[in-house]
Amino acid sequence: MIRVSAFLFILSAALTVGLTIHFSDIRNDARYVGVEVCGACHATTSSGLIFQDWEDGAHHRAYQALQSDTAEQYMREHQLSTENCLQCHTTLGRSPQNTFEEGLNVAGVGCERCHGPGSEYVQSRVMNDPELMQASGGSPGNLSDCYACHAENPNKEDWACPFQDDTFNAQIGWQEIGHSRAPVEQTEGSTSGDSLVIPSGN
Ligand code: HEC
Ligand code: HEC
Ligand code: HEC
Ligand code: HEC
Repeated sequence: MIRVSAFLFILSAALTVGLTIHFSDIRNDARYVGVEVCGACHATTSSGLIFQDWEDGAHHRAYQALQSDTAEQYMREHQLSTENCLQCHTTLGRSPQNTFEEGLNVAGVGCERCHGPGSEYVQSRVMNDPELMQASGGSPGNLSDCYACHAENPNKEDWACPFQDDTFNAQIGWQEIGHSRAPVEQTEGSTSGDSLVIPSGN
């Protein structure tokens, strides 16, 4: 309880002075649970096939990209290791300390990198209540967070990623990777398990 009230105090203080709260500022006991847990509820046609959108998208491949021939050659030539890359190519943003964390990183940039570590908000009860979700370390997702890893104007001198060439705009990027909980029509051969029906939050 002390932690919760301390958190609420910090939250209200920060809101008073008009600061933006990022989930990384939230001091609670939230731990990562992994994308499969999110997929248990966010993989149905009635909830927008969000897990499948992510699984088929670039962020799921972000860790594998570090093992491509071009990436490995670049690292050899510049005497770098994947340590220099994990910040943006994984959920944890750092080296793993155990096998669970290893799995998190291998899955690339997972749900929890953008929505916060899930242990305290993964119950439907919590996620149905946006305020409670945020108080539990969850974020509804914010396009301004994309720029933590994507440079708006990549400049090779000012090294961000040796392989990011194009300018980046979060709105345009979102059109490519975007997901929505709006129901998706069932298609032939769809693998979604619709026995897990998620009640509408609205
Ligand atoms: C037990 C089922 C369940 C699990 C597991 C689950 N969710 Fe949810 N989630 C829901 C429900 C129910 C809602 C609210 C209704 C809706 O969006 O369809 C929701 C809503 C959300 C929202 C929207 C919140 C908002 O305010 O707009 C996000 C983001 C989200 N979940 C992310 C996640 C992430 C990330 C994970 C894994 C860490 C996860 N969920 C795991 C059931 C679940
Ligand atoms: C500051 C964040 C950041 C760091 C640090 C970073 N990357 Fe990236 N990387 C990105 C982003 C963002 C993209 C996607 C760029 C795009 O396509 O617009 C990317 C793309 C790539 C790609 C291309 C992936 C593909 O499928 O085409 C490779 C390969 C890559 N990075 C390797 C590396 C290596 C190797 C390192 C470390 C030496 C590294 N990155 C460090 C952010 C980063
Ligand atoms: C790269 C960051 C990123 C990743 C990875 C990501 N999301 Fe999101 N997500 C967002 C953003 C940003 C939004 C809100 C976009 C907006 O405001 O329109 C969002 C919105 C959502 C919503 C609400 C959609 C709606 O219709 O309101 C749910 C539910 C959700 N995400 C679940 C997930 C799940 C589950 C995963 C993993 C399978 C995931 N997200 C992975 C950034 C991400
Ligand atoms: C943790 C760092 C990180 C964050 C945060 C992040 N991305 Fe990415 N993103 C990457 C990396 C790394 C890649 C390259 C993956 C690959 O292709 O192998 C990538 C690839 C992409 C791509 C495909 C390549 C391209 O540029 O066409 C899109 C689109 C994209 N991200 C959009 C977004 C959007 C939109 C957000 C914010 C909602 C976001 N990203 C947040 C790291 C990140």
